[in-house]
Amino acid sequence: MKKYGIFYATSTGRTARVASAIAKALGVADDDVHNVADTAPSVLGDYEVAILGSPTYAAGDMQANMDDFIDGAQALDLKGHKLAFFGTGDDTMAHTFCSAVGDMAKALSATGAVQIGEFDAKGYVFDDSEAEIAPGVYAGLLLDSVNHPELDAPRIAAWTAALRDE
Ligand SMILES: Cc1cc2nc3c(=O)[nH]c(=O)nc-3n(C[C@H](O)[C@H](O)[C@H](O)COP(=O)(O)O)c2cc1C
Repeated sequence: MKKYGIFYATSTGRTARVASAIAKALGVADDDVHNVADTAPSVLGDYEVAILGSPTYAAGDMQANMDDFIDGAQALDLKGHKLAFFGTGDDTMAHTFCSAVGDMAKALSATGAVQIGEFDAKGYVFDDSEAEIAPGVYAGLLLDSVNHPELDAPRIAAWTAALRDE
């Protein structure tokens, strides 16, 4: 089984760029970075650690391609695998900031995969998010590449370093 696979959705390219940066940090080859728009959900099972990333759109929803992909993935048996999550958003949408990250994690909780890659909420400012799974803890890496692009690189570095240890 391959170690890391990255599965992202994007509408305007930001989450694709973050997926590439995460791939670079973890040494993941281009062939193992998948746009979910043209990937079968069963490909998740090829990887020991599958990393899923989606922007948040509408009233706090996953991007549409990720929504479809997750629909197909929910029935998979992913026991023995690990899942990690990241997302991009805009913290001026303060009640649904990066909510897709929490939605993805919740939707895949019945697959039997162990979920890793929780991230410390310190340094973020917004009101609410489905990604906050416990006080001060996010289900994954949250990035606001619209308003705070300078924070992306250090957060990606910290998150990928922690992932490698898990
Ligand atoms: C119509 C619209 C709705 C959005 N809704 C949210 C939202 O509810 N929460 C959030 O954090 N970001 C929201 N965003 C911001 C996007 O998630 C953010 O720009 C993201 O980085 C886009 O990723 P992409 O370029 O990969 O598509 C919204 C953006 C648009 C245009």
